[in-house]
Amino acid sequence: MDREEARRELARLRAEIERHNELYYVRDAPEITDAEYDRLFRRLVDLEEAFPDLVTPDSPSQRVGGRPLEQFAQVRHSIPMLSLQNAMDEGEVRAFDDRVRRFLSRSEDLDYVLEPKFDGLSVELVYRDGLLVQASTRGDGVTGEDVTANVRTIRAIPLRLRPRNQALDLFGSPAMPRLLEVRGEVFMPLDRFEALNRAREQAGEPPFANPRNAAAGSLRQLDPRVTASRPLDFYAYAMGATDGFEVSSQWELLQALREMGLPVSDLPRRVRGIEAVIEEYRRLEALRDRLPFEIDGTVVKVDSFALQRELGEVSRSPRWAIAFKFPPRREVTRVVDIVEQVGRTGVLTPVAELEPVRLGGVLVRRATLHNEDEVRRKDVRVGDFVEVQRAGDVIPDVVRVRTDLRPADAVPYQPRTTCPACGGPVSRQEGEVARRCVNASCPAQLKEHLVHFASRRAMDIEHLGDRVADQMVERGLVQSVADLYRLTREQVLTLDKMADKSATNLLQAIDRSRERPLERLIFALGIPQVGEALARSLAFRYGSLDALEAECDQPPGDEDPLMQVEDVGPKVAQAIRGWFAQPENRALLRRLREAGLRTTSGAGEGSADPAFAGKTFVFTGTLRSMTREEGQARVLARGGKVSGSVSRKTDFVVAGEEAGSKLAKARDLGVRVISEEEFLAMLGP
Ligand code: IVH
Repeated sequence: MDREEARRELARLRAEIERHNELYYVRDAPEITDAEYDRLFRRLVDLEEAFPDLVTPDSPSQRVGGRPLEQFAQVRHSIPMLSLQNAMDEGEVRAFDDRVRRFLSRSEDLDYVLEPKFDGLSVELVYRDGLLVQASTRGDGVTGEDVTANVRTIRAIPLRLRPRNQALDLFGSPAMPRLLEVRGEVFMPLDRFEALNRAREQAGEPPFANPRNAAAGSLRQLDPRVTASRPLDFYAYAMGATDGFEVSSQWELLQALREMGLPVSDLPRRVRGIEAVIEEYRRLEALRDRLPFEIDGTVVKVDSFALQRELGEVSRSPRWAIAFKFPPRREVTRVVDIVEQVGRTGVLTPVAELEPVRLGGVLVRRATLHNEDEVRRKDVRVGDFVEVQRAGDVIPDVVRVRTDLRPADAVPYQPRTTCPACGGPVSRQEGEVARRCVNASCPAQLKEHLVHFASRRAMDIEHLGDRVADQMVERGLVQSVADLYRLTREQVLTLDKMADKSATNLLQAIDRSRERPLERLIFALGIPQVGEALARSLAFRYGSLDALEAECDQPPGDEDPLMQVEDVGPKVAQAIRGWFAQPENRALLRRLREAGLRTTSGAGEGSADPAFAGKTFVFTGTLRSMTREEGQARVLARGGKVSGSVSRKTDFVVAGEEAGSKLAKARDLGVRVISEEEFLAMLGP
């Protein structure tokens, strides 16, 4: 075969294979057998091997390519990916419809599109001239991660679009948009999720808690071959930026995306008026248990794009859409045992072990009982039948005991007086609901701390999950998280299933984590009450671990300076001080410093801006150009302070749209009020 013939044959094979991909993965209507498909694919691969320079990026043979990445690149979305407001009941959906019509000054019924709210993770696909060139996760809505190589392995996602039937160019041939950003949900079908979990359990790997976590975990793999082995699927439901693509309504968009070969669910309906919306919601809810994937509600969208534009958005959510959630699923099952789990701060959480029960798509075996008082209040006994529920992503929870079904021999709960993990003493402090294991080197706490420390939002140490942490603690390789930085290759190689390559990966990941910014480190320390946002504020406010330690060494005085940090009240301040007061925590900090971790942020008082230094800002209302948190972070970064409430000590109140009582109070007290524009001007270029 000559080159020209090969080129033509390759083009034909690719189009043929993509057509069968669509029939199989998108339409669920295959026309050929798997063996026939494999033969076509084989022909393609053989021919490409013979003519390697004729391989194109959109070839079906190129879905799994390349080698593992070091890390994901950041992608800024050209149009932010918004989130949705929730409606929990009918009343809230009626209120939504009222609001929309009031805003538009319309008395007649509006057209809405109802879609399933898919329970996966949203991604954006960028098609240029019909070719898939980039895929990214939603991230924080503004910036996500580049997951192109992984998304290309999802067979339901076309690498090349088909031109729409109606869209013709100047010469009357079908036109392809120059740019089309498609948004939708990557998810894992329920049967595949269960099969994957079975396989993982057999391989001694921890199962995923639910299909959504499985989908997210599978898409966020640095090695696209791992993603390729995971059964992911996709539905398109929205668009971002476009060029050369004209549609005037959500309904039309869905049809257009489908015509171009993208997977679009056939569940969406277009209806007129709020009564029909509610009826349609009920139809979907009734279908819910028979669907092959998880949905957690419906998304109600104003159909017309012109009206959508008029409605606009508030605080990062569109005014033209709402997520109408389904009530959480509930089932009755039996409590087989009540055990206690030790968390990373030593808190013991009672957990009910259950006779496995199916809640939606997920088999539930355990449910949290939160704390001792809760068990007593609900009077949960071993042997009881209980109602369990699972709402969204949270851990299943025991709603109530079916006392009508209580067996005579049900055994009341007796809290343990010793830690189930280390046998050490357990104490319950005045005014606290939780009991804690007070042994600072309790292996269960250490393990949880390791997992938290290594987690993505903390030090982001890949390859250090539950299983590895468990073994490191069990085998005495680490006594504190600081020991991670002294692990040798020989030690790592003693862990189960650690080959040369995986040991290198783990050690490199640990090494890279030394460079994480201060805010991550503060979060990773696991100081009680200090979450991600607060860790960020503390890093901005103090600029270094030294400065924060020094603050905690000073007696707090009448007004604790820690409380000038946003969201720090007396309780939180006390928790932070309590943590720094422990000698073993101070030893940990010293060792982390010695290990070469970053303990300064380069911001903080050191780089104070005179317009901000020492000045206290309060934010109220909605800002247009940034979130309140971003505004606060900018103040802190310039050496200013932020507070949640207005007092005489407040220097500036930054008032956004719909500012409420704080604004009134500022006026009362004569505190200076500035607009978002004035604030931006102060920030400078
Ligand atoms: S529309 C502003 N449609 O829900 C429009 N989102 O809270 C937002 N989601 O991040 C997207 N199914 O992950 C839309 N049919 C659907 C959806 C859907 C699930 C998710 C999506 C988004 C979140 C918004």
